[in-house]
Amino acid sequence: MNIVEIIAKKRDGFALNAEEIAFFVSGVNNGSIPDYQTSALLMAIYLNGMNDEETALLTDAMAKSGDTMDLSFIDGIKVDKHSSGGVGDKVTLAVAPMVAACGLSVAKMSGRGLGFSGGTIDKLESISGFRTTLSEQEFTQYVKRDGIAIMGQTKNVAPADKKLYALRDVTGTVASLPLIAASIMSKKLACNSDAIVLDVKSGDGAFMKTTEDAVKLAEKMVAIGLRHGKKTVAAVTNMNQPLGFAAGNALEVKEAVDTLKGNGPSVFLELCLVIGSFMLVLGEKAESISQAKQALAKTIENGSAYAKFKQFVANQGGDVSQIENTELLPKAKYVLPVIAPQNGTVSAVCGEKIGNACIEVGAGRIEKNDLIDHATGVVVSKKIGDEVKSGDILAYVHANDEAKGKKAVETVMSAYEFGDAVKQKMLLAYVDKDGVHYE
Ligand code: URA
Repeated sequence: MNIVEIIAKKRDGFALNAEEIAFFVSGVNNGSIPDYQTSALLMAIYLNGMNDEETALLTDAMAKSGDTMDLSFIDGIKVDKHSSGGVGDKVTLAVAPMVAACGLSVAKMSGRGLGFSGGTIDKLESISGFRTTLSEQEFTQYVKRDGIAIMGQTKNVAPADKKLYALRDVTGTVASLPLIAASIMSKKLACNSDAIVLDVKSGDGAFMKTTEDAVKLAEKMVAIGLRHGKKTVAAVTNMNQPLGFAAGNALEVKEAVDTLKGNGPSVFLELCLVIGSFMLVLGEKAESISQAKQALAKTIENGSAYAKFKQFVANQGGDVSQIENTELLPKAKYVLPVIAPQNGTVSAVCGEKIGNACIEVGAGRIEKNDLIDHATGVVVSKKIGDEVKSGDILAYVHANDEAKGKKAVETVMSAYEFGDAVKQKMLLAYVDKDGVHYE
């Protein structure tokens, strides 16, 4: 077999077979296929797509390119959760302790942020002392004893995906449905849970800009999960504006903690209830979505989710006093207001621009190895549908460098539009074994 023939076959629009895909993935993994040929094949896939069979084969080969997790130490059904990435997406921080408080074990590997989309591991590291690198023994111990542990991805989870993602990032081939589906699902399969809940973001703060594309991605990922014998549900959710109010690491931890204490933004809680209830139903801890939602809401009312979060932070070396008093989390030197230039109704708060403003103040990365400033970010005060008067505060930029903060103020300003607002729904659709359901 030869890689040039494989590239030419995909270039000419033909489907690749199992041997060809396995040859490609193992060649990427062991370094025998050079980056220029890998990039050429990625571009051919980007342009000509992959059918479901090819996408599943690519996913499988990438999942098997490294270590797989052994979760057999957990009794019952193991449920994983994954978001396709968005701005202000702090769902894991709140939903993990909520479902754990309902008796579902959360043993989760999470990623770091890249580009406008943030990552759970960076957010957790804004808590002083919090360790996201755990030994297998520690990870197992916390999940068994307290039902919750979250760690960073070990180097050897789906290493072929890591190499491919790095090349996609620099060759304009990230936004390909089969490549995104295979990338996300290879890591989920390597984590070896029995069931998977996917949160596929749709809107201008997400990879998928339209509901139509997000539903297609959701269908592809659900098909891959089902094919591998995993119960899989994908919620397609709104990312037309930042989720909740806060975007930026410590700012998001604060918002998640406020939510666990019962004082968070209602739209954010609504999404946590959606994702958490799919998790509880797949994990057979609830018989129906409505029963699951009630159980989850109770974990906020009775403080059990908040207590679970504190236990989780303490286990992983984090400073619990910063959770009890979120004023102790890292704080930026400058908090700069973004002022409304006119009267009107907010009709857009472009998520991608808010994400870019976060990068400008150091809350996000452009390159994989960029350092994060955990204190910085953006907190929006006005969202789609809000009436504003000229001079009102639309948002605050939190920055440690005044000049960068001022530039970010302009970027945030450019995210706002005024005019007729379209009412925003949080859950747009969901996909399960029976197909697509529109809400
Ligand atoms: N997240 C991933 O893990 N992979 C992608 O390709 C896109 C988002």
